[in-house]
Amino acid sequence: MGRAEEPTLFELSEPGRHSWQLRTTGVPAWSADELVPDAHRRREPVPLAEVSERDLVAHFTRLSHRQFSVDLGAYPLGSCTMKYNPKVCDTVASLPGLTDVHPAAPARMSQGWLSLLVELEEALCAVTGMAAATFQPAAGAAGELTGLLLMRAYHDARDDRRRRVIIPDSAHGTNPASVRIAGYEVTTVPSDGRGCVDMAALRSVLDRDVAGIMLTNPNTLGLFEDGIEEIAAAVHGVGGLLYYDGANLNAILGVVRPGDMGFDIVHLNLHKTFATPHGGGGPGAGPVAVAEHLVDFLPGPRPVRLVHGAQERAASNGTGATAYGWAMPPRSIGRVHSWHGNALVLARALAYIRVHGGDGLRRVSERAVLNANWLRVRLSSVYDVPFDRPCMHEVVLAAFTLRRRYGVRALDVAKRLLEEGFHAPTVYFPLVVDEALMVEPTETESLQTLEALADAFERIAAEASEPAGVEAAHAAPRTTPVGRVDEARAARMLVPTFDARAHVGMQGDREQ
Ligand SMILES: Cc1ncc(COP(=O)(O)O)c(C=O)c1O
Repeated sequence: MGRAEEPTLFELSEPGRHSWQLRTTGVPAWSADELVPDAHRRREPVPLAEVSERDLVAHFTRLSHRQFSVDLGAYPLGSCTMKYNPKVCDTVASLPGLTDVHPAAPARMSQGWLSLLVELEEALCAVTGMAAATFQPAAGAAGELTGLLLMRAYHDARDDRRRRVIIPDSAHGTNPASVRIAGYEVTTVPSDGRGCVDMAALRSVLDRDVAGIMLTNPNTLGLFEDGIEEIAAAVHGVGGLLYYDGANLNAILGVVRPGDMGFDIVHLNLHKTFATPHGGGGPGAGPVAVAEHLVDFLPGPRPVRLVHGAQERAASNGTGATAYGWAMPPRSIGRVHSWHGNALVLARALAYIRVHGGDGLRRVSERAVLNANWLRVRLSSVYDVPFDRPCMHEVVLAAFTLRRRYGVRALDVAKRLLEEGFHAPTVYFPLVVDEALMVEPTETESLQTLEALADAFERIAAEASEPAGVEAAHAAPRTTPVGRVDEARAARMLVPTFDARAHVGMQGDREQ
């Protein structure tokens, strides 16, 4: 791959170099001078890197070659759902009719966007079995916090002060963090021998101090909580609410709905299930859908359909009335995001739903589950499978036998997979599994890709029985631009800033 370091654009900067671009803003050149008061105008040009177009393109192309991406190959990062997403969704999200509308535009000028949002809300409510949704939360964790604030608002409105939220020990780390931020205490319940919520343990912590339970179903072990109806009855029995962490919704689309399982609040990671790649720091969306008794508390303003049927349409004819508008729920918890959330992710999601049409979403989930189970069965003779029964969209393997016999750990297997041309699976999560390797092939990978991935897993395990194989596993990855890093040091000594001043003559700028 050549050099280990790629210089920053500031290091490549040479005075006077530039590239060309057509003016695209449509804002006349004179307006900045006219509109921005003198006191607020910059005196000096912005000190940016100066590079030629040729150097700029080469820089970003070199950077892109140093990455592993979903577009390059299988990315079986369990729990994160890094699936390939159809490009048509990007095309839709790039349409000028969507990108050129300012979020502050009045409703009468954003009827297209509003109709998109209303249609998406109806589609997500149909998938989840819920009554209404908000699109404001920007990610799954933001959805969790919003859901917990809704839970609190619901109990407060009944003058019912509760302090605890129950979470299974297999839950994603954001669940307890969100509970704490929402001002509740966490009560953890253990998993039973089958990897599901231990019912006896759950019953022992249930009382009228419990505001609710947060559950992921299928859970983070990739297993369906088959006692869900019993759990729902028990939690509702003490007046608590059920929160569904919908990060794994891609396993059950069109098959079973959280609303039918008894959940009151659901968050969805649109950036996992509905066509936006998850991760990389890009914008996501974590809509929260709720049952009827929580609709009044939703964040607002919400997009709403103003004209419902032919009769209403006839009544509004000629009055200039619009078909869609914004409405504030009467007991809203307020805003949880500026404007209306990460809108273009929402457009991608609706495109994905429309592209699949009919029972297409159900096929997405069936394929995701089939792929995970194919890998489980194929790899169960080589890797440990702590819960060896049919899984949902992801399978948790483990490397405790490899570690005991040869000193090769889950981390080593993951790093070796990078050399084999695959992204590493999630390792050491869920925390309840020793040496966990959590593999989520997703529905988008073909049988040939699954076979190649399984071959690579098997090769790594077979090599581990030889000293050279153990050495290779410990040294991996040897073929990537960055080799094995000291993970503790990388996490503790982050240097997320770069001082550009020396490179573009910015010294002293700060004093001006
Ligand atoms: C089960 C589960 N819950 C919640 C989250 C948090 O979602 P986000 O990363 O969008 O905040 C994730 C993320 O991977 C998850 O897997």
